[in-house]
Amino acid sequence: MLEHKPRPEWTATEEFLSRVVVHPDPAMEQAIRSAAEAGMPAIEVAPNAGKLLKLLVQLSGARRVLEIGTLAGFSTIWIGRGLPDDGTVVTCEYLPKHAEVAWANIDFAGLGEKVEIRLGPALDTLAALEEEGREPFDFIFIDADKENNSRYLDWAVRLGRPGATVVLDNTVWEGAVLNPDLDPVNARGIVDALKMLGEHPRLDATVIQTVGSKGWDGFALARIT
Ligand code: SAH
Ligand code: DHB
Ligand code: MG
Repeated sequence: MLEHKPRPEWTATEEFLSRVVVHPDPAMEQAIRSAAEAGMPAIEVAPNAGKLLKLLVQLSGARRVLEIGTLAGFSTIWIGRGLPDDGTVVTCEYLPKHAEVAWANIDFAGLGEKVEIRLGPALDTLAALEEEGREPFDFIFIDADKENNSRYLDWAVRLGRPGATVVLDNTVWEGAVLNPDLDPVNARGIVDALKMLGEHPRLDATVIQTVGSKGWDGFALARIT
C-alpha cells in the first residue's frame, strides 16, 4: 500500500481554505474522531472534497445515491446533507467494524432514515442491487478497493440512469499512475479505470489533480450518457 505524503504547506493551506469556506458540521467532525478512536485509517475524503460531493449532489438534483466504500461515514454524511427530503443513499462496506462505526455516525447526523449500509463485498452487493430491480441511481461515488475500480465503473453504468453523475476518488495516487511500480495492484486498477473513463461510449469524463491533507491525488467526474 502506498503512503500518502502531504507537504505541510498543502495541509496548512487546505486547513485555511476549509476553515474560511467549507464549514463541516459536528457530525462530520464526530465521524473523523470516532474513526481515529477505533484505529481506522484516516483515508476519508478531505473536508473540501466532501463539500464538493454535497454540492454536486445538490447541483445534479440527485435523489438516489450509491456509494462504494463507507469507512466511518464521513463522505456519506456530506452526501446525505445534499439530499432532498425523500433522498436516499445505499453505501457498500465489507468490514463489519467500519459499518458499525459508520452507522453510529450516520445516526448521530440524523441520516438514519436515509442511509442504508450494505455489508459485504461491494461486487456482491452491486449484483444484488441489480437483482432487486431498484430504481436507477442518480449519483454514484466510487471510493473503495482501487483494484476493482473498472468493475465498479461498469456497475455504475449498469445501475445509473442516463444523465447520472459518477465521481471516482483517488485518480493520481502519489503519481503512481505514471509509475505503477510504486504500488502495482492499485495503480493498475486506477489506470484501467481512467482508460475506461476516456473510452467508454456511455461515459463522458474529466479528471482533476489535487494536493492537500491527503497528499497528491485527484478525482474523476463523469456523466453517464
Ligand atoms: N468514502 C469514505 C472512505 C472510504 S475508504 C469517505 O470518504 O469517508 C474505503 C472503504 O472501502 C474502507 O472502509 C474499506 O473497508 C472499504 N472496502 C474496501 N474494499 C471493499 C470491498 N471490496 N467491498 C466493500 N467495501 C470495501
Ligand atoms: C486510501 C484509500 C482511499 O480511498 C483514499 O482516499 C486514500 C487512501 C488507501 O487505501 O490508502
Ligand atoms: Mg478515497
